[in-house]
Amino acid sequence: MNFEFASRMGKVPRSFVREILKVTEDPEIISFAGGLPHPESFPYQDIKEVAVQVLEENGAQALQYGATEGYQPLREWISQRYQRMGLKVDPEEVLVTNGSQQGLDLVGKIFLNQDDAVLVERPTYLAALQSFGLYEPKFHSLALDEDGVDVNSLKMALDEFHPRLFYAVPSFQNPTGISYSLNRRKEVARLLKDNDTVFVEDNPYGEIRFMGQDNPPVKAFLDESILLGSFSKIVSPGIRLGWITAPGEVMDKLITAKQASDLHSSLLSQMIVHRYLSDYNVEAHLKKIRRMYKRQRDLMVSLIKEEFPEGVQCTEPEGGMFLWVTLPEGMSSLELFDLALKEKVAFVPGQAFYAEDPQHNTLRLNFSNSSEEKIKEGINRLARSIKELEE
Ligand SMILES: Cc1ncc(COP(=O)(O)O)c(C=O)c1O
Repeated sequence: MNFEFASRMGKVPRSFVREILKVTEDPEIISFAGGLPHPESFPYQDIKEVAVQVLEENGAQALQYGATEGYQPLREWISQRYQRMGLKVDPEEVLVTNGSQQGLDLVGKIFLNQDDAVLVERPTYLAALQSFGLYEPKFHSLALDEDGVDVNSLKMALDEFHPRLFYAVPSFQNPTGISYSLNRRKEVARLLKDNDTVFVEDNPYGEIRFMGQDNPPVKAFLDESILLGSFSKIVSPGIRLGWITAPGEVMDKLITAKQASDLHSSLLSQMIVHRYLSDYNVEAHLKKIRRMYKRQRDLMVSLIKEEFPEGVQCTEPEGGMFLWVTLPEGMSSLELFDLALKEKVAFVPGQAFYAEDPQHNTLRLNFSNSSEEKIKEGINRLARSIKELEE
């Protein structure tokens, strides 16, 4: 049989990162490629205990269909957490989703028509390109510096393209680790205020700041924006829970789109996560994650400085799970990838993260998922591969 697929499927490739992950299943490979939290960050025992309690005390409810909007106590917990950050988000403005990834898909579904302009950072989160890409928009990329998106480019792009959306990851961005300064957050909000471009702020790493001054989400300065959050990096990605907050009118459409997609997210998972968040010391848990990732990040950054050849640069993130390496001009991280695989070390070549005109001398390293021994050995192997490529 000849399968005829929708034309939109021809425009979006399979995730490059997920394809690489298959190559790196070989246990001898040290992989800095995935975007995985450290397994030691998972509260196995606590989740096991609350799962039993939920099933014993509320089993019939937990295993039943639930509301599309989400489990009300969990929506309230999310709303209160924002309140502590100085953000006013009513529980009714929170929709629980299957990870923030589903939030991105729903945003694409309700806002994008073919050829609509969408602004993204340069580079940006690969799976957002994939998610929005299915709705066939035209992407325009905005340069990033160490304080965040370039506001002149943003201003020009708003004037020129009248974009439907501006998608950004202002805190500890995937892939670069860059976090917007407070000033930059305010400037972005100022430019977008009273503008019909919807700001979509993706914030799965905001709670994983391990150094420097804390900054509120851009939404603190831009009420009418959309803000996505996730339990993947603070509890567990396998539980597949995130959320999206949006003004009432948008929420209405998101709920319709979610109903069409999956009716609702797993009530059992929501009840387990809510009970865990309510009954256990989440602050202590977050502290443990931050301490662990800071150690791993410090080690990786210092080894890169010691062992990588001169002319190689890397970001020094204050949170999150990734750092971004720029090789000297003219070098290709794709060629490096082949050499590195022979040395049994993997990373993600940067080209995957560009909506247009990729910069070939860049690459992403994940530091959260590797032990200190693996970081030492892996960076050593990668340094050898870079020197080999230089020769
Ligand atoms: C920037 C960004 N947004 C969204 C996601 C998706 O996360 P979730 O597990 O909540 O679907 C990720 C996951 O790595 C991410 O890095």
